[in-house]
Amino acid sequence: MVAVLRTEGLSKRFGSLHAVEDLNLQVEEGDIYGFLGLNGAGKTTTMRMILRLIRPTAGRVSVFGKDIREDWIGIMSRVGSLVELPAYYPWLSARKNLEILRLATGGLPRARIDEVLALVGLERRMDDRVGTYSQGMRQRLGIAMALLPRPRLVFLDEPSNGLDPHGINHIRGVIRDLNRQEGTTFVISSHLLHEVEITANRVGILKEGRLILQDTMQGILARTVSGLRITAEPAGRAAELLRAQPWVRGVKAEETGALRVDCDPDAFARANSLLLQNGVTVSELTPARRTLEEFFLST
Ligand SMILES: Nc1ncnc2c1ncn2[C@@H]1O[C@H](COP(=O)(O)OP(=O)(O)OP(=O)(O)O)[C@@H](O)[C@H]1O
Ligand SMILES: [Mg+2]
Repeated sequence: MVAVLRTEGLSKRFGSLHAVEDLNLQVEEGDIYGFLGLNGAGKTTTMRMILRLIRPTAGRVSVFGKDIREDWIGIMSRVGSLVELPAYYPWLSARKNLEILRLATGGLPRARIDEVLALVGLERRMDDRVGTYSQGMRQRLGIAMALLPRPRLVFLDEPSNGLDPHGINHIRGVIRDLNRQEGTTFVISSHLLHEVEITANRVGILKEGRLILQDTMQGILARTVSGLRITAEPAGRAAELLRAQPWVRGVKAEETGALRVDCDPDAFARANSLLLQNGVTVSELTPARRTLEEFFLST
């Protein structure tokens, strides 16, 4: 596999703050790489360093196997990005904004503009001034701008910002289709594990500027499984029975009334038969998953 992005010892300090510390990322061709971390973890700072919007304090970045300082223009012609707010002219339409970008990029057919506008679902409003757009529409335009030159590698910093559930789903579909059909590699930052769970195949988790974990999505999910989630009736009796078992480390009731049982997730059948034999009705029994927040607290 070819690494399309590699960072080595990448670090950024702002005064005494170590915003990013000794980061070694590896993204391979065809990956959808979920770059996860809570607010302030250093995701945007990392992307800005990779895109040379800010200068690293230390370390190196290579894209398509080349140091970004070597062939910056060549590399950037095959990279698309939306980091923080999209940059556009508010007094022009989406179509005009993309036309300016197309002329600046060079070599793209005009039809590509309609193509990307349709891709992000902006075709109905494409001739309206961008200044009149809602936040979600601006975000869609930003994504269209990132995708315009058919990049091989795309950086999207929190692409769901401002999007409604339908928009989030739509953009997720766009990312997945481009990845499958054209082999486009994506690096997508998020502070929510479940947000990248469906699309990403590889994940890097950043905590206070350090990469604490980099693994396949499957590997990450395996680590976040912790026990069982059980909805049963009567719940109190179920909790009591479970607590009495030597293989149960603890039982907590969620706000929804479901029980979170801290035990080996393989104890599936054992839990089920215990409850059934004691006259408890089980309506749901699934592996319990820790959220990213809980996962962070435990590492
Ligand atoms: N220009 C700057 N000057 C000083 N500190 C900065 C600057 N840019 C970022 N930081 C600090 O660096 C740390 C990392 O910020 P960054 O924006 O990279 O986090 P993030 O992971 O993108 O967070 P979020 O999920 O909130 O977008 C934060 O503590 C932030 O305050
Ligand atoms: Mg950020």
